[in-house]
Amino acid sequence: MIDFHNHILPGADDGSKSMDMTLNMLKTAQNQGITTIVNTIHFQHPKMEDKNTDYKYVKKIRDIVLEEADNQNIKINIKLAAEVYYLPNLCELISNPLLTINNYMLVEFPMVIVPENYLDTFFNLQLKGITPILAHPERYRCFQENIDNLQKCIDMGVILQIDAGSIIGHFGKHTKNIAYKMLSKGYCHIIGSDSHNDTKRNFCLKEAYDLIESYNNKIVSQLKKNSKLLIEGKGALTQIKVDLDSGFLIFKGLI
Ligand SMILES: [Fe+2]
Repeated sequence: MIDFHNHILPGADDGSKSMDMTLNMLKTAQNQGITTIVNTIHFQHPKMEDKNTDYKYVKKIRDIVLEEADNQNIKINIKLAAEVYYLPNLCELISNPLLTINNYMLVEFPMVIVPENYLDTFFNLQLKGITPILAHPERYRCFQENIDNLQKCIDMGVILQIDAGSIIGHFGKHTKNIAYKMLSKGYCHIIGSDSHNDTKRNFCLKEAYDLIESYNNKIVSQLKKNSKLLIEGKGALTQIKVDLDSGFLIFKGLI
């Protein structure tokens, strides 16, 4: 199993605070059946002002983590990418090896403010051969208020990533409902753990997959396949639509 979105490097961003925490997180990931993770350090986010996000520096931390994990018999491959905070400069960043992986760029929005002209920026990224992945749209107010704005992203070929924690309910009932609504409308390609620590925001990919599987048992293998395609850079990702029965949707107030 692959996790495409997490923050496990100690002290690198607002994720893991120490090597011990990192190793605890990796043990959880391994116990969930995760074999490869892509660490996605926050980049150009206002909360990163005093942090070093130089590729060589981040790689050095990753290499130390790999060595410590190996010493503890934790067998997980750790790849490097980033969660790039949306600014109109995305096209200027693509030569930084930290910020893309297999020509995909994970992009996060501010939680409340809608970035102006983001579809134009995404289009320009695509012209340069980079496919944007929109991180956890279910958590942004602009899509919570009008989920069908995501259709424009889908039509353009933007990849949509839902947080595992949103599906389980870690971000509250409203976000959970939006996540299910996205799944029922096909506004999803991949699920990421977005894990930040070894307590409330740990790896929870398996729990999210198990929940989705209880509604539709064929979808999880497609979701897993999408994550695999993404890190291997081979083939187009499938749009995921979970057929939630109408009773469930009415119960949840989704229709
Ligand atoms: Fe994240």
